[in-house]
Amino acid sequence: MQEGAVHERRSAGPILQGMPVRTDTDRVHLARAIELAQRGFGRVNPNPMVGAVVARDGDLLGEGWHDEFGGPHAEVNAIAACGDADLGGATLYVSLEPCCHQGKTPPCTQAILDAGLERVVVGSDDPSERASGRGLGILRDEGVEVVLADGELCARARLVNQAFRKHARTGRPWVLFKSAMTLDGKVATQAGDSQWISGEPSRELAHRWRCSVDAVAVGIGTALADDPQLTARVEGVRRQPRRVVFDSLGRLPLSSRLLEAAPEVPVTVVVSRAARRADIGALEAAGAQVLVATGENESARVRSALDQLGTMDVAAVLLEGGPHLAGAFLDAAQIDEIRLFLAPLVVGGRAARDPLEGKGVDRISQALQALTLECERVGQDLMISARLREW
Ligand SMILES: NC(=O)c1ccc[n+]([C@@H]2O[C@H](COP(=O)([O-])OP(=O)(O)OC[C@H]3O[C@@H](n4cnc5c(N)ncnc54)[C@H](OP(=O)(O)O)[C@@H]3O)[C@@H](O)[C@H]2O)c1
Repeated sequence: MQEGAVHERRSAGPILQGMPVRTDTDRVHLARAIELAQRGFGRVNPNPMVGAVVARDGDLLGEGWHDEFGGPHAEVNAIAACGDADLGGATLYVSLEPCCHQGKTPPCTQAILDAGLERVVVGSDDPSERASGRGLGILRDEGVEVVLADGELCARARLVNQAFRKHARTGRPWVLFKSAMTLDGKVATQAGDSQWISGEPSRELAHRWRCSVDAVAVGIGTALADDPQLTARVEGVRRQPRRVVFDSLGRLPLSSRLLEAAPEVPVTVVVSRAARRADIGALEAAGAQVLVATGENESARVRSALDQLGTMDVAAVLLEGGPHLAGAFLDAAQIDEIRLFLAPLVVGGRAARDPLEGKGVDRISQALQALTLECERVGQDLMISARLREW
């Protein structure tokens, strides 16, 4: 299809198919909207990050973004930023399809119609059941010209909201697996010590990631070995993530640091049917929420737990290990992105632990192929990130 085409569908119903955006001006403003969206990082989850720009004939009239969970949406903020300007003939550039439902705030489609905007250029679709092109269909039926981007800009807009997209499409949270390993690929010594492999700047970055997700998860092996708090301890934290421990038998000690701050900072213990009622009761009395994961093996129970967390508005999970639990997530095909800190240390030891265990594959040809691979220096460490799935 020719670059520069405009969406021509005129029939009633949702708009789902993307088209290349028309001009350089459109591309610049849409790219800016996608950039603005990222100002919502760690502030709007489990909502999507959204940015918006209002412009006419290349002149910027106003910009906005979704700044706070439950607060006004990007479109409304961008329109408000235009003040008293007449918006007739103006275009709204927005990184995500505008909503058309009454949620914590009124529908953005109505705000767009009330403002008298003539065109709307959208970065990516919203795969939620209540959206999926409906908002775009409403705008088009009211005479607004609608352009849904495809190609590189659409890919960028979707990348910003991978967690929101997976959750909307599957009901399960997006999972980011993070681990700190030595140069010889170990996450703990043969004696089980892992504190600290990565340097201070890496650990601070990991605390920032905790702020941007809805839950942080570890296995009971890690909870027992390290007695972690799993809270986000950096400046500017707006909301602590739920702490989740996978613990089939409910062995988490009542004196653990995880339970210290419960229930103010929520703790969920994922047990299996094998857990004793008395242990479940004791954990609940200590302020934990207990979920029973069902399924005949560990990866089935990972999927069951993620299904349940998904219904609790958990759209993104930071999986912090250890290797046994991470392997079960891998076997369950539930790791969407990996970020590894590679530290300048060598520990050796046959029994020292690898980042991911699980069943694994026999042949390299069966290996999971990452979609992207990036590397950056963080203090003394290298941070290697790889996306495994795209939503
Ligand atoms: N360097 C790093 O970044 C890093 C990060 C984390 C941990 N570590 C290190 O890793 C070590 C602990 O790791 P680990 O592998 O022994 O333990 P782990 O992965 O933290 O926990 C494994 C345990 O989780 C429980 N579990 C409950 N539900 C499960 C499910 N659906 N799938 C899989 N497991 C489930 C199982 O015990 P039950 O069946 O009894 O419930 C299993 O044995 C420690 O030495 C720690 O310091 C290093």
